[in-house]
Amino acid sequence: MTRCNHENTSPATGIGWTPPEKLTCHLETPRLIVRAYTIDDAQSVFEAVNDSRDEHLLPWMSHWAETGHRTIEFSTKYVCDQALALQNPASFNNVGTGIFEKSTGRFVGGSGVHDIRRDTASCETGYWIRRDAIGHGYALEACAHTITWALQTQDRGGLGLNRVRIYCAGDNIHSANLIAKLGITPEVMQRADYFIPTIGLTDRLGWGVLASEWDCDHHRPFIPAAQSR
Ligand SMILES: CC(C)(COP(=O)(O)OP(=O)(O)OC[C@H]1O[C@@H](n2cnc3c(N)ncnc32)[C@H](O)[C@@H]1OP(=O)(O)O)[C@@H](O)C(=O)NCCC(=O)NCCS
Repeated sequence: MTRCNHENTSPATGIGWTPPEKLTCHLETPRLIVRAYTIDDAQSVFEAVNDSRDEHLLPWMSHWAETGHRTIEFSTKYVCDQALALQNPASFNNVGTGIFEKSTGRFVGGSGVHDIRRDTASCETGYWIRRDAIGHGYALEACAHTITWALQTQDRGGLGLNRVRIYCAGDNIHSANLIAKLGITPEVMQRADYFIPTIGLTDRLGWGVLASEWDCDHHRPFIPAAQSR
């Protein structure tokens, strides 16, 4: 979510977060591998987005789904850009990662850490699952482990961030249910703050979790937040 115009968007150091010297992402969950993309993933990403674009992705990720992955060249550049993002800690502030079924190796969706703010050691995360792989709890599993990656200390392979935020549209019931199941804290309810072409105006909902609240060994909050929505 963008900051207000008057807010300082480039304070000198804030709390002084810097990324690990070697940036990698390879997360193993009970049923999934969430990992950095390689150029070999381009075709799978292209096919998954194109199989899922209409009705499934478009309402909730409108700009990305409308403009992205229309050609294999776009998907190739996309996966290469994500791989390159991890090669350059100095400018690292965003990376998309792929979600793969452990048993089959099949690409089932995307996750990542986005909009990393060094001053507050915080990031946003998000997810999508291809249409024919929803309903298995994959997004929840991938998201919980991605939060662990973000909040885990750097000496244990994490990014060592202090805070993760997640936003979704109020009408996105599946995504809101998933975040409620994560048990993190509801923080934001901005009325009529999203415009979705097929729906119109809807609310913006946001949740957050701090490193001190997240049990990285079990990929869940120490104490689940009471969900008030
Ligand atoms: C929102 C979205 C990511 C949900 O994906 P998903 O993998 O189906 O989500 P979940 O992990 O919550 O699993 C959903 C269902 O699987 C069920 N499930 C089946 N097996 C399960 C298991 N072993 N473990 C956990 N849940 C399981 C859950 O009960 C859940 O059902 P419920 O919501 O009725 O309780 C997906 O619909 C999507 O990609 N939507 C379009 C893009 C989008 O909206 N992205 C988010 C933008 S904010």
